[in-house]
Amino acid sequence: PAHRDEDDFASGLRIYDPAFMNTAALSSRITYIDGEKGTLMHRGYPIEQLAEKSDFLEVAYLLIYGELPSKPQSERWSWEIMHHTFLSDDLSRMMQSHRYDAHPMAIFASTFSAMSAFSPEANPALQGQNLYINDKAAMNKQIVRILGKATTVAANAMRIRINRPFVLPRSDLSYTENMLFMMDHMNEPSSYRPDPRLAKALDVLFVLHADHEMNCSTAAMTHVGSSLVDPYSAIAAAACALYGPLHGGANEAVIRMLQGIGTVDKVPAFIEGVKNRKQLLFGFGHRIYKNTDPRSKIIRQVADEVFEIIGSKEPLIEVAIALRDAALSDPWFQEKKLYPNVDYWSGLVYKALGFPLDFFPVLFAVPRVAGWIAHWKQQIDSGTNKIARPRQLYVGEKRRDYVPLDQRV
Ligand code: ACO
Repeated sequence: PAHRDEDDFASGLRIYDPAFMNTAALSSRITYIDGEKGTLMHRGYPIEQLAEKSDFLEVAYLLIYGELPSKPQSERWSWEIMHHTFLSDDLSRMMQSHRYDAHPMAIFASTFSAMSAFSPEANPALQGQNLYINDKAAMNKQIVRILGKATTVAANAMRIRINRPFVLPRSDLSYTENMLFMMDHMNEPSSYRPDPRLAKALDVLFVLHADHEMNCSTAAMTHVGSSLVDPYSAIAAAACALYGPLHGGANEAVIRMLQGIGTVDKVPAFIEGVKNRKQLLFGFGHRIYKNTDPRSKIIRQVADEVFEIIGSKEPLIEVAIALRDAALSDPWFQEKKLYPNVDYWSGLVYKALGFPLDFFPVLFAVPRVAGWIAHWKQQIDSGTNKIARPRQLYVGEKRRDYVPLDQRV
């Protein structure tokens, strides 16, 4: 005899929309997606043009401030971010206290959470709830700090994973060059420099991952941010959302899936298993794209460039191609409109670049920080922020009286 809210005439109209599949929680000027046509635009600029002509820091500026930066703005922006890449000794020590086998994404999220504790000046609970409405300099300061430190936190998370000491950032390198430097570097600080072509490939991947409107982690960012918590805490929440295998963890899950399949001859059996609902085909399907994910096409090209630079062919690529072709030509997948998403190819590129598997979601998180910040800023700047608080349909017990422990059966 479950109690239903329909019985309660006082409850008023509620829209029951599990997983918010049809609910627009806000209006936004940042990113436009047409899922049927496979269109993705940031502030009106098509993703294809941004991936080809722009770079990650410029796209981050565009997402956050609404326009492409002028030359002086661009130089200032890069300078500020690259000079905010250092972590305090306290924060570095806190990072070092993680276990060597902790998942890098868990380290990334917990370090951002810790940054909240290390940054009382960024906390509206301490500085006044209108801090970021009244003080744009304070807001901009947090923005460059977050973007700058994201690469160092990420690189340190990987260094913990491979049991190596941290490498200090270099502000004279580009954003992705510096990140590769901190991750790769072994012994020769003066002579070592990452291959600029690989840094450029990573930069293109960062452009492609920078924002994707109301995805799960960005929704988490705006939801948690709506309570006016500090931006570090909201980013930690968004990072936790991204950690899951249905979201940012999918690039890692794709490689584990391809390794499990092993060889091309095992593809048909795997496809049958998916159709019999024994497993998901990771890297396929999308809540919004029902035709094609424009990012997956660009990543496929980047993958070929990276394989060429590295000079060795990734053995799993043949399995990936055979699996993709088998799924795309199968009516079961066609009817469900399942196509490769951004994660289908990105994991293969990260693997070719030599990153450990469990580091892959972090490579998604670092650029997505730009999108999270853009949405957080938009929400604060709107001046109409309200705390996010969905309703529910209660389907539990009706009122009943407490039974003392010795009378329960
Ligand atoms: N493999 C097998 N079946 C799938 C897949 C998949 N990858 N994706 C969807 N389906 C099936 C579902 O079982 C469902 O079938 P049904 O209608 O018979 O029950 C149907 O297709 C519709 O799928 P939903 O799960 O309802 O779609 P939803 O929009 O809720 O989920 C999601 C989207 C989570 C991305 C899903 O496609 C999925 O789990 N994909 C695999 C994980 C993945 O690649 N995630 C990365 C997403 S992109 C990103 O975060 C950047």
